[in-house]
Amino acid sequence: KMFQWIEVSSYEQMSEIAATIFAEQLLSKPDSVLGLATGGSPLGFYKELVRRHQEEEFSFARATTFNLDEYVGIGPGDATSYHEFMNENLFRHIDLPETRRHLPNGLATDLDAECSRYEKLIGESGGIDLQLLGIGVNGHIGFNEPGTPFDSRTHVIELTEATRQSNARFFDREQDIPKKALTMGIGTIMAARKIVLLAFGDNKMDAVERLENGAVTEEFPASILHKHPHVTVIYGK
Ligand code: GLP
Repeated sequence: KMFQWIEVSSYEQMSEIAATIFAEQLLSKPDSVLGLATGGSPLGFYKELVRRHQEEEFSFARATTFNLDEYVGIGPGDATSYHEFMNENLFRHIDLPETRRHLPNGLATDLDAECSRYEKLIGESGGIDLQLLGIGVNGHIGFNEPGTPFDSRTHVIELTEATRQSNARFFDREQDIPKKALTMGIGTIMAARKIVLLAFGDNKMDAVERLENGAVTEEFPASILHKHPHVTVIYGK
């Protein structure tokens, strides 16, 4: 069992270390299934990953990716969707075939069916080898808000007001911030073989401390990671 803490002194350093972990994963297993995240935390990581890919350090040609989450009601073409975030920051720069880039579809008419489809697809891919995570200030992982059952699988979640406000900076108008999202469940995340969690900045340090000291409780979703066999937390401020 491994639970590794890496303290960094800059956001760039965090991004480089995370990129090295993913590069090593792709080099040792070119057909890896990667779990990806959105948000401010992984932006520098994607930049670094793209740079190294363009220098031909490694290829995504045989890889498969699954993103953690997507808002309900927006999708490809919407600038604020996670689909567009991924296109912009990673997919359009790499050789990963389109058919193996997966995100939940927040525009599906039957959202529960979409969640089952997504969960099944992850299983059929052989499962996630390496999952990237950020952490919400309230300890959420993916969009699994406090109180989400640890054994949850991909599901529809109502976003808390705190999470909506944390993400308000990405939207022009208050009323544009979605109220719901589709997210891998905590059980889905825990099934990944390895996990890397990124947390950088003053506003994340309370969450990092709580992860470090706190008991395992559904009130602080990230705390479940203490039960995972292989976690690396890269953090700093
Ligand atoms: C968002 C995302 C999470 C992300 C977290 C932190 O709401 N759904 O997957 O890890 O909140 O975001 P950021 O990295 O921008 O601080």
